[in-house]
Amino acid sequence: MANPLEGKTVLLGVTGSIAAYKAADLASKLTQAGALVDIILTQNATQFVTPLTFRSLTHRPVMTNLYDLDSDEAIEHVALAQRADILIVAPATAHTIAKLALGLADDALTTVALATAAPLLVAPAMDAHMWEHPTVQEHIVTLASRGAHIAGPASGRLASGLIGHGRMLEPEALVGHIKRYLGQAGDLSGRKIVVTAGGTQEPIDLVRVVTNHSTGKMGYAIAEAARDRGANVTLVTATTHLVTPIGVTVNNVTSVADMRTAVLDSCVGADALVMAAAVSDYRPSQVAEQKIKKSGADDGLTLEMVKNPDFFIEVPAGVLRIGFAAETENLIENARAKVDSKGLSLIVANDVTKEGSGFGTDTNQVTLINAKGEAEELPLLSKYEVGHHILDRIVGLLK
Ligand code: PMT
Repeated sequence: MANPLEGKTVLLGVTGSIAAYKAADLASKLTQAGALVDIILTQNATQFVTPLTFRSLTHRPVMTNLYDLDSDEAIEHVALAQRADILIVAPATAHTIAKLALGLADDALTTVALATAAPLLVAPAMDAHMWEHPTVQEHIVTLASRGAHIAGPASGRLASGLIGHGRMLEPEALVGHIKRYLGQAGDLSGRKIVVTAGGTQEPIDLVRVVTNHSTGKMGYAIAEAARDRGANVTLVTATTHLVTPIGVTVNNVTSVADMRTAVLDSCVGADALVMAAAVSDYRPSQVAEQKIKKSGADDGLTLEMVKNPDFFIEVPAGVLRIGFAAETENLIENARAKVDSKGLSLIVANDVTKEGSGFGTDTNQVTLINAKGEAEELPLLSKYEVGHHILDRIVGLLK
């Protein structure tokens, strides 16, 4: 399983900003994702959050003072620097950004930052006017030119009450940045993977659509898993409520016709296409120009539907095609028939009636069926883990 955080040591530096409380959530999320999270708090950070908060969440060393002779971490700070796979400073204040840019080393964090060869990820957090100040911008340019990755800041409401640029990115987004960074040399590095997600919508009139229950979770999870293995990922997504994954090119579509165009365009130069979207097989033959009005008391409404093109077969040869089969009966037979009729390298057979599987769930239980019809039933897994199983097969097929 290629989770780029598994067993990796993330050194999290926390500086004195109100956003420091979000760093506790970040430390927790990284730990839950399998990373070993070492912490350095600046003295100013300890005004906002305590070492105990982080120790309790990570069960790992928390360093606050380089000169504390009772602290193993202080004495071993070089070891802390050496074992880090990545150093992330979140939140990074204007002051610490300046020290990092200038190479000043007057506290534990900036000393370790100079002593480590690990890549540096900086998540700024400050007032909008400070962020826009030429001095801060120059330091950011200096850090970026040395290879540091600058994540954010985002726009929004700031602690000062102003609305502007300066909010630290949310912990979930920072986890995405870290995974992307750590996974960039993964087994899909240099490969282009196109993934579809969500349920297409076919208009009936100006206000109504024909659609299905897909939330996009399966497709988004595959896109994130592919990014985490170093792939260049394009996600063609129907309307969803999900957060755009970090480091993924997103192409928003609505109808099957839009999805067809976006997929065929995105597949130029692609290595593989994974169609996790629930694509409408039919659409209303005519779209009413105005909202259809209710007519007489008991009259029904008959919609005439026409078939949508199955654009899988239009995808250029040379692009591996991986399909999904959402079934409610005869799972394996129906899925095998789709492998043949659509000329697929692999199909993911998905019984959408099973507990914890199919539409809207965070987990899925699927069977992978290859072009020869050979089936491998997977246990109930998170959709992200299912994504990695599919990608394992893709890596094998691309060899
Ligand atoms: O989004 P979630 O809430 O996480 O739910 C996940 C899911 C249940 C939608 C997903 O796991 C899934 O099963 N997706 C495929 C749904 C589907 O459309 O299956 P199908 O058997 O109708 O189509 C077979 C394949 O042909 C699919 O890969 C589909 O994308 C593709 N297709 C279908 C119709 C069409 N006109 N063109 C196509 O390319």
